[in-house]
Amino acid sequence: MNNPALRIRELTALLNRYAYEYYTLDAPSVPDAEYDKLFRELEALEAAHPQLKLPDSPTQRVGGQPLAGFESVRHEVPMLSLSNAFSPQNENGAFDHAEMYAFDERVRSGLGGRQPEYVIEPKFDGLAVSLLYRSGVLERAATRGDGSVGEDVTLNVKTIANVPLRLHGGQVPELIEVRGEVLMLKADFAALNEQQAAAGQKLFANPRNAAAGSLRQLDSRITARRRLHFFAYSIARSEGGPAPATHFEELEYLQELGFSLPDGHYGVFPDMAGVLAFYEEMSKKRPGLPYEIDGMVVKVNSLAEQQELGFISRAPRWAIAHKFPAEEALTVVEAIDVQVGRTGAVTPVARLQPVFVGGVTVTNATLHNEGETQRKDVRVGDTVVVRRAGDVIPEVVRVIFDRRPMREAAAVSDGLQGDMFDRPSESRSEPLYPQYRLPEHCPICGSGIEREEGEAVARCSGGMLCRAQRAQGLIHFASRKAMDIEGLGQRQIEQLVAQGLVEHFADLYRLDIPALQQMKENADKSETQPESGGEPLSDGQKNGKKQSPVKWAQNILAGIEASKQPDLARFLFALGIRHVGERTAKSLAQAFGTLEKVRRAPEPLLACLPDIGTVVAHSVAHFFAQAEQQAMIDELLAAGVSPKNQPVTLPLSQYAEPQKWLARLPGYKTSETKAAALWEQAGKSMAGLIGDNALNAEWQQWRKQPANLALLSDIEAFLNDMPSENEAQPESGNSAVAGKTFVLTGTLPTLKRDEAQAMIEAAGGKVSGSVSKKTDYVVAGEAAGSKLEKAQALGVAVLDETQLKALLNIDK
Ligand code: IVH
Repeated sequence: MNNPALRIRELTALLNRYAYEYYTLDAPSVPDAEYDKLFRELEALEAAHPQLKLPDSPTQRVGGQPLAGFESVRHEVPMLSLSNAFSPQNENGAFDHAEMYAFDERVRSGLGGRQPEYVIEPKFDGLAVSLLYRSGVLERAATRGDGSVGEDVTLNVKTIANVPLRLHGGQVPELIEVRGEVLMLKADFAALNEQQAAAGQKLFANPRNAAAGSLRQLDSRITARRRLHFFAYSIARSEGGPAPATHFEELEYLQELGFSLPDGHYGVFPDMAGVLAFYEEMSKKRPGLPYEIDGMVVKVNSLAEQQELGFISRAPRWAIAHKFPAEEALTVVEAIDVQVGRTGAVTPVARLQPVFVGGVTVTNATLHNEGETQRKDVRVGDTVVVRRAGDVIPEVVRVIFDRRPMREAAAVSDGLQGDMFDRPSESRSEPLYPQYRLPEHCPICGSGIEREEGEAVARCSGGMLCRAQRAQGLIHFASRKAMDIEGLGQRQIEQLVAQGLVEHFADLYRLDIPALQQMKENADKSETQPESGGEPLSDGQKNGKKQSPVKWAQNILAGIEASKQPDLARFLFALGIRHVGERTAKSLAQAFGTLEKVRRAPEPLLACLPDIGTVVAHSVAHFFAQAEQQAMIDELLAAGVSPKNQPVTLPLSQYAEPQKWLARLPGYKTSETKAAALWEQAGKSMAGLIGDNALNAEWQQWRKQPANLALLSDIEAFLNDMPSENEAQPESGNSAVAGKTFVLTGTLPTLKRDEAQAMIEAAGGKVSGSVSKKTDYVVAGEAAGSKLEKAQALGVAVLDETQLKALLNIDK
């Protein structure tokens, strides 16, 4: 290329487009190596011809020479703040939206009684910045500062990958000032803190602080390494471009110009009711979002109406920050106990002074394990930050060390105030309570607590001897996603176990009214004694009215009776086999169809199934190899439990081909390719494999072991017993769906997401959460976001609801 100016222009445009595809659309069109190659070419050309470097050159993304200080920038249009509204939650999680209704009232009265449309969007927890573009090129970026004067952070903002250096698409205005928020994604924050820890440097308290610290670096090369992110939320002024009439149009226009918007997390509604429903939905989604938000912002949609409403002091009358309940709060650790889980896992738990956080009163928080507890150095008496995000178990985030009770304080409270002697300063600074250590014995059954090499989790070695493990196993068995026994919650089961009425699963099905009545009376009695503490048995106590013990017992028995014919997958999940979650249980049910098959399935065949690796297969086979477990299942069947059979939709003939299971035989190490050759040699028959003919020496060696020979005949018998592929197809199943992977995104017109998922699975398809090359179909509805874009970029087939139904052979 002998025209460097032309080539520089070409490379600049190309690289900016690639960066946009990668960072904003999340759909790269070229491999990273290609980007890097062109980037280096541009760097070299710019170094040779500095005068030709363009103002939107992507080479600025890596940062430049450190500044002595930031220049001040006066904001032409002041950067204002928002007034807040809160919606307190009651103990059932219901929101009280009085403050938002009051806002709506104020707005409507300001508009002479008219009902405005509202836009609701995330309130990003980052830093506000203002970006000025002239002729489409980013000219200046400034922080909010005091709202009138901010700091010039142009060099730093240019390193933010999803900030366009030149506006694209749409109608590019002569001048535009875009406002938005700079933040750090949760994942980038975690990675940054990990790096900081590894380098022995100070950790950032939260993504907001990390974003602020990174943006306000005099050395923009540091900012460049910090991976910041920008979301646009308004246009402060513009000249020579289109003039949107509403805030929503403004957002769409910003997107056209190349800015990122919070995909699927904003919307426009005709009134407050829609806004509030969206807010409640977002409060549930909040923990799973890739970035932190501390509320939603609700804005009057029409720009004319915004003008009509105007401002009051420093905040607009047409917008409000609708905050979420606090997720973090301070409280004091009263004790540290351990909890024993279903698998014996021993977890330290902080007992806390009750504190209201994230909409509920929290009294316990997990400390995860001994190592974590020591790393955070949580001790009795400490003031700690507790955090509760969504449905997640509350956790202790960190200790406020300044408030740790020290020896001297104890002496004072012990009444030793008059102590004449000055204690040496070391003793004064000694913590009152020692560093936390797990007990050596299980507090429930007294068995030893053991920890396997390299495992963070310690376990009680008592197994089924341990009452806590039995109780947890039963709680899991009865839980909603397992046998779903109505009326039998954690407290009821703990009581049943504590009183010796129930030991094993089958005992539940042998309970009768007198036994339950007895239990209830004992429990109520012990609750009148203050020492035993705890809330009363709440289930079965509808509307605060106490039920008679007989009625209560009848209800529980009805719940138990109703659970007797579970789906096979639920039953398998309920058994509490290690590593068998809902998904694995579903795969097992789909592959075998009946409990009888699952409980006899040979390990190498299990290991061939999708979603089941060797560890899980081993765990399943090991579970069913134990005579006690088989006896436990027989007892359940004898007590009237009868899991439903189901059509086989993951047929072994498809997943467990001979070369696959041969390559998964215990103690016979081989690849699938070699196993295929072996199968070929054996004349593609079990008789050939098992028979005494030559094949290869290693195989003969392996096959000679009696246990291995027995395993082979088990596999043979098992496979002969399984229905063939044709029979295996479910009635509704069809080859367009069976074995295919689907991804659902957006809102479908009539089907709920779990309905669509159930229909696909019933026809033998799989539903996955993310789009990849292996995805067969993406089913896209309203407000489908990045998954749809990714599908289009990868050339994956996209269906709407009607097309999905057609594929599933469902009319209408
Ligand atoms: S609009 C005149 N929209 O909240 C209205 N602000 O308290 C100006 N913020 O400094 C703000 N997300 O940092 C608006 N979607 C959003 C926002 C948002 C976060 C921040 C912004 C501003 C503060 C106002």
